[in-house]
Amino acid sequence: MDRILVTGGAGFIGSNFVHHLVEHTDARITVLDKLTYAATRESLAALPTDRVELVVGDIADAAAVEPLVAGQDAVVHFAAESHNDNSLSDPAPFVQTNVVGTFTLLEAVRKAGVRFHHISTDEVYGDLELDDPERFTEATPYNPSSPYSSTKAGSDLLVRAWVRSFGVQATISNCSNNYGPWQHIEKFIPRQITNVIDGGRPKLYGAGQNVRDWIHAEDHSSAVLKILTDGRIGETYLIGADGEKNNLEVVQMILAHFGRPEDDFDHVTDRAGHDLRYAIDSTKLRTELGWRPTFANFEKGLADTIEWYVEHADWWRPHKQAIEASYAAKGQ
Ligand code: NAD
Ligand code: DAU
Repeated sequence: MDRILVTGGAGFIGSNFVHHLVEHTDARITVLDKLTYAATRESLAALPTDRVELVVGDIADAAAVEPLVAGQDAVVHFAAESHNDNSLSDPAPFVQTNVVGTFTLLEAVRKAGVRFHHISTDEVYGDLELDDPERFTEATPYNPSSPYSSTKAGSDLLVRAWVRSFGVQATISNCSNNYGPWQHIEKFIPRQITNVIDGGRPKLYGAGQNVRDWIHAEDHSSAVLKILTDGRIGETYLIGADGEKNNLEVVQMILAHFGRPEDDFDHVTDRAGHDLRYAIDSTKLRTELGWRPTFANFEKGLADTIEWYVEHADWWRPHKQAIEASYAAKGQ
């Protein structure tokens, strides 16, 4: 694949994926990104301009999307409204970008005959009990809980229908919770790291018993590239790195890193409809495509990420006060 369009490539995971493509392929990459509050131009700044071009635009704008898609060998679609808490305050942009935006891209790849890979989330499967021995697999029924996850589920179903009805050459991946460099400080891990760096206390929703299955964004990128090149058309692959931790454990690991007492955090108002536990069984991806994560040790990946936020305070600090004020207004 010589030419790849990456939607949402100025966001957290999309920008990590663009770095991965530059390092591991010879492709020329066009990033299509609306540059919402969640985007960060800085994440692409160090990349060679003869390999990576940023086009500012909306994936739901067919007139902008169609000429960009024509002439590509593949589209990898990360662009989304991605934060559950925001979807509870205002679901409208989630429906517009995640559903209408994905529909617009599907129509463009259908017309141009271009390979499509759709990035989705494990949240489409709902949640698990803490003691459930099962994990999510590709056969788990969809059961999304939040406005965010229901729009992602809707976009997955559109992709499946465009494959079956129109023969679009598409694959889907559903990944668990990512961490790593360039993640917006509204999200759990960077919010707590930056609270502690600034001398504040981590904020745990409810009792902190909710479990997330953490994967480093670099491992998400290597899995997506593997599916893009070797995945079977029409198939869904779950991506996960066996990283289950409850939120209290993660907060205590961050506190320990900075030498702070393990109870130096606040319990705050819980999220409405808060999913209890996510857990991914990635056997299909590992056995069929031979993929393996490189950040097998979460503690080490977290320590690297903490150091990254220490070193990149100039990037996040200008936004910190506004983010915390908006959480505080909701009792969080
Ligand atoms: P993010 O919020 O950091 O980045 C999203 C990017 O999409 C931003 O650059 C934003 O400007 C862009 N964007 C938003 N609306 C757009 C529009 N209408 N047109 C063009 N660009 C637009 O998100 P992220 O955490 O990097 O997530 C990327 C993708 O991965 C999403 O599809 C998300 O559902 C999925 N995902 C995320 C996680 C996670 O843990 N963060 C896990 C599994 C799957
Ligand atoms: O599972 C994949 C999903 O992971 C992605 O699809 C989403 O795009 C991504 O945002 C993420 O969703 P979560 O809702 O799991 O992530 P978030 O970082 O918002 O929260 C992680 C957990 O931490 C969750 O149980 C809520 C909790 N939390 C969050 C914040 C921001 C806290 O306890 N305190 C906080 O301050």
